[in-house]
Amino acid sequence: SAAEKGGYDYFMLKEIAEQPRAVADTLLGRIGADGRLVLDEMRLTDEQLREIDKIIIVACGTAYHAGLIAKYAIEHWAGLPCEVELASEFRYRDPILTRTTLVIAISQSGETMDTLMAVRHAREQHARVLAVCNVNGSTIPRECDGVLYTHAGPEVGVAATKTFLTQLVAVYLIALYLGQVRGTKWGDEVFAMIQLLERMPEKVEKVLETMEPVRELARSLADGHCVLFLGRHVGFPVALEGALKLKELAYMQAEGFAAGELKHGPIALIDKDLPVVVVVPPRARAVLHDKIVSNIQEIRARGARTIVIAEEGDASVEPYADTLIRVPAVPTLLQPLVTTVPLQVFACELATAKGHDVDQPRNLAKSVTVE
Ligand code: AGP
Repeated sequence: SAAEKGGYDYFMLKEIAEQPRAVADTLLGRIGADGRLVLDEMRLTDEQLREIDKIIIVACGTAYHAGLIAKYAIEHWAGLPCEVELASEFRYRDPILTRTTLVIAISQSGETMDTLMAVRHAREQHARVLAVCNVNGSTIPRECDGVLYTHAGPEVGVAATKTFLTQLVAVYLIALYLGQVRGTKWGDEVFAMIQLLERMPEKVEKVLETMEPVRELARSLADGHCVLFLGRHVGFPVALEGALKLKELAYMQAEGFAAGELKHGPIALIDKDLPVVVVVPPRARAVLHDKIVSNIQEIRARGARTIVIAEEGDASVEPYADTLIRVPAVPTLLQPLVTTVPLQVFACELATAKGHDVDQPRNLAKSVTVE
């Protein structure tokens, strides 16, 4: 009913709007008075966590994209090697798992069969298994050694939105906690990041307040057939997520690429007027940033319509952006929390303009309980 949707036409719109609150709820009670993380609820002792020498993340769909971003955070803050695998592929290769491997299964519903089977496989090989999950008491956390709940609240729309942002917060917490427990060389940075995480709800709020031009852009593209998304570093999984949202909701051909791969093939797709969304890393990552600015120039020279998502104050992209979407300046690893939001709004509005029900896209179920 309209009341359940809180006055919004779709649950998805409500859930997008709830993201600042959801992010705050994921952080709630997990930062101690001394500014250190408290994650005892994971049921893994600090001793057990110090023994971990490798992390493998398994997940599907949007949760897999959260896993891809987690890899950057874990390798940096925790200083541990981290692999990310589609849950549906995991048990069909021969993953090397030991008692000192931590497998992290990310699943909003906690019922995704592919992810559950990956968890069972990991447990059979005696790995420690931790769930990142949104639904209390669901199957996957029940079968894991420990769980970190995202506390995003129920998500009704089939497309994951607030649960993705909160999965990101959860994996940042895990990466930072591992850094804290293991005492890596990034100690000061870990401490500073924990404080910055607390400011993320207001940053997400700020993005939401500036989305009208994104909606207008989406409506103007409703007759199109294809959109490309490019990113580097954590912007690459964000590009994949932007493309998935568009496929799911607008039933459009949409692909996400690592911008550095462009010249190895995908640049052949660039055509006059093809919309290309580019996620630009913060200027603080000068090398990455400047490389993507040249990518934007390359695709624009071939006639593409460039839609650029860049941090406030980044003037370098202005000459090459047909549409410029601004997001608050935040550290690179946290940037997906602000750059994903315009892509959700974009897909939702474009699909609505096409006349689709964004809460119940064709052929899709909220949780996939078959393999
Ligand atoms: C996301 O928009 C999709 N509905 C889908 O990719 C989803 O993320 C995937 O099926 C995994 O679901 P889970 O998080 O409940 O395991």
